[in-house]
Amino acid sequence: MALPTQLLRCGVLGMNSRNINYIARYNQRALYPLVDDKLQTKLAAQKQNISVPELLGVIERQWQVKNIESLIGEWSKFVIKPTRGSGGKGILVITGRDFEYFLKSNGQKLELKDIRRHINNILSGLYSLGGKPDSVMFESLIEYDQVFTDYTYEGVPDIRIVVFKGFPVMAMLRCATHASDGRANLHQGAIGIGLDLSTGKSLNAVQYNRPVSEHPDTGKSFSELEIPGWDEILVLAAGCFEMVGLGYMGCDIVLDRHAGPVILELNARPGLAIQLASGEGLMKRLKAVEAFEPELLELPPEQRVRFMQEMV
Ligand SMILES: Nc1ncnc2c1ncn2[C@@H]1O[C@H](COP(=O)(O)OP(=O)(O)O)[C@@H](O)[C@H]1O
Ligand SMILES: [Mg+2]
Repeated sequence: MALPTQLLRCGVLGMNSRNINYIARYNQRALYPLVDDKLQTKLAAQKQNISVPELLGVIERQWQVKNIESLIGEWSKFVIKPTRGSGGKGILVITGRDFEYFLKSNGQKLELKDIRRHINNILSGLYSLGGKPDSVMFESLIEYDQVFTDYTYEGVPDIRIVVFKGFPVMAMLRCATHASDGRANLHQGAIGIGLDLSTGKSLNAVQYNRPVSEHPDTGKSFSELEIPGWDEILVLAAGCFEMVGLGYMGCDIVLDRHAGPVILELNARPGLAIQLASGEGLMKRLKAVEAFEPELLELPPEQRVRFMQEMV
């Protein structure tokens, strides 16, 4: 089996360089709240007619917790998340009800008091950046496109696209595993599968930064994976630059079987493991975009996508 470093052909972007030369240089601090707060991102997206998972409710104060029974009512499928969380921390995915129980995708049963405790933990800042008090969002459950059956297990896969100055530079599909508990975040044990920018077909796959070739829970090989409607997904990601103005960001997109591509969230500090999944470092592409003539930066999202696809 190849070592992770052998998967990388060239120009790996490291943590320091990412922080100093890309995040600090291209992301204005004043724009952070727009993406660090998932509620604000949702509102900004809705303003631009970009689809997002439906907001079902918000809890901001402790005293509201005693009313959650009436807020939840008859909902059977929903997601609870910290408004300012990251890396999948504190996300609770409820996929059904069984009498008084709430069911997680792994079959685990929770009682209302467990949900209440989870909400209290979010409010107290257990999962938020810097441990600051947070609020709680209830969202509709995304039902993933059938194309992902067996590529993901007990959770909705998402497509992470790194967008630099409005150009999509690298992409991967992240698939949930039993270990990742309904979330497609790599730190939770999800699998990252690099995607070819031109075709939306799979490149390499990694779990816990080590190469894998098939899903550990379903045995499905990733070699035939191809994302449908790929160009449209890249255009949606590229258009997030106009929406929030961040020069260097990660867009998380899910494919809902009814609504099509939906923006899940945006990240001002996207992780670096996408390079392992793609078998290629980010540096070459980032340098290329930095060298673009000013006219290129004025192109609309569709043309920026096409340009990038022809370049890589
Ligand atoms: N509305 C939803 N429906 C289904 N799964 C979701 C939903 N929201 C989040 N998830 C799952 O949780 C993961 C992390 O969600 P995300 O909103 O990106 O938060 P984070 O900032 O913690 O990464 C997603 O990749 C997905 O697998
Ligand atoms: Mg995310």
